[in-house]
Amino acid sequence: MKKKLGLLTLLSLMSLAGFSQTIVGSAHDFSSQTWNTSVGGQICIVCHTPHNANTSVLDAPLWNHATTASTFQVYTSSSLNATVGQPDASSKLCLSCHDGTVALENFGSMSTGTHFISNTNNIASNLTNDHPVSFTYDAALVAADPGLRNPTVALSGLGGTIAANMLKGGKLQCASCHNVHNTSGQASLLVKANTASALCLTCHAK
Ligand code: HEC
Ligand code: HEC
Ligand code: HEC
Ligand code: HEC
Repeated sequence: MKKKLGLLTLLSLMSLAGFSQTIVGSAHDFSSQTWNTSVGGQICIVCHTPHNANTSVLDAPLWNHATTASTFQVYTSSSLNATVGQPDASSKLCLSCHDGTVALENFGSMSTGTHFISNTNNIASNLTNDHPVSFTYDAALVAADPGLRNPTVALSGLGGTIAANMLKGGKLQCASCHNVHNTSGQASLLVKANTASALCLTCHAK
């Protein structure tokens, strides 16, 4: 009993601190969008389906949204050590709305939608002005760039190491910095608050 109360207290403290939130009411809650014609205004169905999922993207979780066919221009710089390829896995799923080429309501069998993502939420297919994604962040990269923290040792502030909590298959992806389901309840769907650049300083020893 004592243990149970302690857990409840911890959970409510976490909730006050902005943790343990959900997608409901977030920027990704599309239940009341006019373009969402799913029965009962469902939230998950825009991105996921229990059956007949789209398996064209590596590691896609029961995906239900049409995926982007864009060829992306990726970030480069003379000081970059990472090998950045075309966006893959979950980053490609994000870009299947956020590059502005696939209609938001193109999920399930729909392919003729007319509503596209707008304003700053449209990061387009030119990613040369965006933080790089879809590259391996490991000890070899840290050896090449000593301004990085070792992902298998340094803590993320989210319960474990950077590698455990922020990398997917050893790679940095959009989901390293963002939580698509708003789990942390932070502005811009960030995985943790970026107050005094806390998010950036998690990985960059600057
Ligand atoms: C806007 C698109 C979007 C919506 C809406 C969405 N998801 Fe997801 N979901 C994703 C993406 C992208 C991933 C893979 C990236 C990741 O896990 O961060 C994912 C991963 C998952 C996973 C597997 C990984 C994990 O986090 O456990 C589950 C389970 C899941 N979603 C359940 C749901 C449920 C249930 C809902 C509705 C309440 C939902 N999602 C709504 C995009 C979405
Ligand atoms: C089904 C389409 C879809 C997918 C897939 C999707 N998003 Fe979004 N996202 C949107 C739309 C639409 C908005 C803007 C909502 C609005 O106008 O408030 C948005 C907003 C956002 C915002 C801004 C949040 C805010 O509070 O202003 C972020 C950050 C974001 N998405 C990140 C992601 C990431 C990261 C992924 C993949 C892990 C992803 N999205 C996948 C459609 C999508
Ligand atoms: C290294 C961390 C990081 C990565 C990786 C990252 N973002 Fe962001 N993103 C941020 C931060 C921080 C903000 C908030 C910016 C602000 O408030 O000015 C943001 C803001 C956004 C917004 C809100 C609109 C805007 O420009 O402020 C969208 C949409 C978005 N990100 C989508 C994505 C997508 C899609 C990907 C992958 C292609 C991605 N992000 C990768 C850190 C990241
Ligand atoms: C999850 C870890 C992680 C987070 C969080 C993160 N970064 Fe990065 N960032 C990296 C890695 C790894 C690289 C690749 C570095 C390299 O190749 O030397 C990188 C690359 C960069 C680069 C390009 C470096 C170059 O040489 O061109 C800049 C600038 C940068 N990050 C700034 C930021 C800022 C600002 C934030 C916060 C908004 C942030 N990063 C958040 C891991 C992260």
